[in-house]
Amino acid sequence: MQRSHWDGAYAQGDTTRSWYQEEADVSLDAFETSGVGPDDAVVDVGGGASTLVDGLLERGFRDVTVLDLSATALGIARRRLGDRAADVRWIVGDLLEWDPGRGHRVWHDRAVLHFLTEPEDRDAYRRVLDRATDAGSVAVLGVFGPGGPEYCSGLPVRRYSADDLTEFLGDAWEELSRAERVHETPSGATQQFTWGIFRRR
Ligand SMILES: C[S@@+](CC[C@H](N)C(=O)[O-])C[C@H]1O[C@@H](n2cnc3c(N)ncnc32)[C@H](O)[C@@H]1O
Repeated sequence: MQRSHWDGAYAQGDTTRSWYQEEADVSLDAFETSGVGPDDAVVDVGGGASTLVDGLLERGFRDVTVLDLSATALGIARRRLGDRAADVRWIVGDLLEWDPGRGHRVWHDRAVLHFLTEPEDRDAYRRVLDRATDAGSVAVLGVFGPGGPEYCSGLPVRRYSADDLTEFLGDAWEELSRAERVHETPSGATQQFTWGIFRRR
C-alpha cells in the first residue's frame, strides 16, 4: 500500500512535490559541521529522488547508499545523475525491514521519520538505526517541527520538537546540535522543520 502510494506521489516527477529542494543545503552543512568527509559511508534512508546524493557525489563521497520504498523515486534520481548513478548503491525497500549488514558513518533522514505514527514502527526504526551505525556514527534527522504540517502527501505525520527528537533517540545518542529551519515548497508554502545532529556513544 505504502509503496504504491509513494510511487504514485512521484509519478508526475519530483520537482513539484512539497518536499522538493534544488539543493540539500541544510543536510550538506550538517555533514560538514560534524566532520563527515568523502571517505565516510553514508546512508540516506527514504532518500527518494532527493538531490542530496548529487551534492555528496560532487563533494567526492564514494560510499553512498540511497534506500527508498519507491522505485519510481530512485529512478528519477538515477536518470538525473546519468553515468554518476553507477557510483551509488540504490536499494528499493522498506527501511523498517532493512538489514544493513554493516555500519555507516552517517545516517541521514529528511522527512521520513515523521511518517511513523505507530510506536512499533518507531521501535523498528531505532532497531535498524542501531544495526546501520556504529559508535561514533552521526545521525542527521530533519522532521516536521511543532508548527509544521499535520499531513504530508496525504498521510498523517508526527511532529517533533528538538527535545522530542533527542528523547526519541535516547541515551545511546549524544545531541551535537539542533536547529529550526523553514522549508519553502515549490508552490511557495512554508513548512517548519526540526533538525538534529547526533553522535552515537
Ligand atoms: C517526503 S519524502 C522525502 C524524500 C527525501 N528524503 C527528500 O528529502 O527529498 C518521504 C520519502 O520517504 C519514503 N519512505 C516512506 N516510508 C518509507 C519506508 N518505510 N522505507 C523507505 N522509504 C520510505 C518515500 O517513498 C519518500 O521518498
